[in-house]
Amino acid sequence: MVALEDLLGKISSGSAKVGIIGLGYVGLPLAMTMSRRFKVVGYDKSSEIIKSLSEGKSPVTDVKDSLLAERLGEFFSPSGNEQDLEDCDFLIICVPTPLDTEKKPDLSYIKSACNDIKEFLKKGQFIILESTTYPGTTEEVMVPLLEKSGLKAGTDFGVAYSPERVDPGNKKYSIEKIPKVVGGVNETCTEIVAKLYESVLEVEVIKARNCRTAEASKIVENIFRDVNIALANELALVFEKMDIDAWEVIKIASTKPFGFMPFYPGPGVGGHCIPVDPYYLSYQARKYDIIPRFIELSGEINDFMPVHVTNLLRNGLKQVNKEMAKATIAILGITYKKDVNDTRESPARIVIEQIVSSGGNVKIFDPFAKEIETKHGIIGSESSAEDAVKDADALVILVDHSIFSKEMLSNLIKTIKRPIIVDCKNILKDGLEGICEDGLYFGIGKPKLQ
Ligand SMILES: NC(=O)c1ccc[n+]([C@@H]2O[C@H](COP(=O)([O-])OP(=O)(O)OC[C@H]3O[C@@H](n4cnc5c(N)ncnc54)[C@H](O)[C@@H]3O)[C@@H](O)[C@H]2O)c1
Repeated sequence: MVALEDLLGKISSGSAKVGIIGLGYVGLPLAMTMSRRFKVVGYDKSSEIIKSLSEGKSPVTDVKDSLLAERLGEFFSPSGNEQDLEDCDFLIICVPTPLDTEKKPDLSYIKSACNDIKEFLKKGQFIILESTTYPGTTEEVMVPLLEKSGLKAGTDFGVAYSPERVDPGNKKYSIEKIPKVVGGVNETCTEIVAKLYESVLEVEVIKARNCRTAEASKIVENIFRDVNIALANELALVFEKMDIDAWEVIKIASTKPFGFMPFYPGPGVGGHCIPVDPYYLSYQARKYDIIPRFIELSGEINDFMPVHVTNLLRNGLKQVNKEMAKATIAILGITYKKDVNDTRESPARIVIEQIVSSGGNVKIFDPFAKEIETKHGIIGSESSAEDAVKDADALVILVDHSIFSKEMLSNLIKTIKRPIIVDCKNILKDGLEGICEDGLYFGIGKPKLQ
C-alpha cells in the first residue's frame, strides 16, 4: 500500500520526482533549485515559455542561460503537456495570483492548475502551493477541488502551503539562501514538505502551525513593505513642500541602531506582489467584517505617486513656458524595480499614459525591457539612452538600474538643451550642481535645488 511517509525515503535517496506548475519568476528559479537534487518536470501553459526554455533561453533575469543549459535534459525537462506531470511525487504550483478589475483576488490560475491535477491525482502524491494568496486558500479552495478526485487530502495525498519569498534581482539572497516557511494540512504533511525543502536549501525551514499561518506570514511580509513604502512616499510629499531632503532625513534616522528600518520613496510600487497582495488580505478581512483601512490607505498613497511624478514634470515644463502637449519626454527605466526585466504593474505605465493622454510625446529607454504595454498601445524602448533624450524637452528617471549611475546620467543630461529633470530615485542627489547651469531639477522627496 502506498503511504505518504514513503515520500521521506524518496527525498533522502534523491529519487523523488518533482513537477513545477508555472515557470515564471518563481517557478523557474525553483525548478533550477529542485533540479540540483531531483528530476524536475516543468509544466507551463504558455507554449512561448516552453519553446524558449527548450531552446535554452531563460526569460527570467535571475536564471542565466548557462545554468539552464546545465540542467536541461537529464535534470530538468520543460513541457507543455500536463500528462508529463502524472508520475511526479511532488507537484508545486507557482501560477499567478492577480487582482480582477475590482481589485478582488483572481484565483482562476490556482483553480485551473488544481483541476488539471485532479484528473490524474493518485495516492501518495503531494501538492504544494507556492503562489501568494489570502489565508484559507489552500484548505478552502484547493483541497475541495483536489478531493473531487475521490481521494482524501492529508491521508491519500499530501497538501501543504509554502510561500515563495524570492526577491528578483537580489544578488545576495537567491532562493537557496532564503529561509523557507512551510505549513501542511496536518503534521505528517508539514514534516514531509519541510524535509523536501531542507534537502535542497542552504538555510533553515520554518514549520508553521498550519497552512493558514504560512499563507498569512507571506501576505504580512508584503503588506509590511507596501505600508512602509507608503509612509516613505507620504513623508516625501510633506518634506518636498517643507524644502527638506526626505532621503537625507531617512538616512539620518536609520543611524539609530534599533527601532527604525529605512524605506525610501519612489514613483510608486509595481511588480506582481507589492501592489497586489495587500488587497488579498483586505478582501478576506472584509468577509470577517473588518475594514482594513491602514492597508487600503497605503495602496492609495502609493497609487498617487505616478500622478505626482507627472505633476512635477508638468510644473517643470510650465516654468519654461512649455506645454506637455507639445513636449517630448524621455523616460529612463520602465520596469517595476532595478535590474529586472519585469514591467508588470510598473508605475512607468501610469506616467507614460498620463503624458500621452495630455498630448505629449514619449521616448523610453530601458536596458532590461524592450517594451511596455499601455492603454495607448505598446511603446518600445529606444536602443540607447542617448537616442531617448535626443530632442527631448525633459527627462524622467523612474528606475535606478545599476547602469544609470550618477556619472552616466550627468553625461547624458549635458547633451540636453535647457533640461528639465525629474529624478524619482535620488540618483543625482545634489540636483544639477556641477552638471549644467541652465536646467531645472525636481526630485521626489527633494528640496528645491538648482
Ligand atoms: N515575482 C515575484 O517576485 C514573486 C515573489 C514571491 C512570490 N510570488 C508569487 O508567486 C506566484 C507566481 O508569480 P510569478 O511572478 O512567478 O508569475 P509569472 O507570471 O512570472 O509566472 C507564472 C507562470 O504560470 C503559467 N501558468 C498560468 N496558469 C497556469 C496553469 N494553470 N498551468 C501551468 N502554468 C500556468 C504562466 O504561463 C506563467 O509562465 C504569484 O502568486 C506571485 O504573487 C512572486
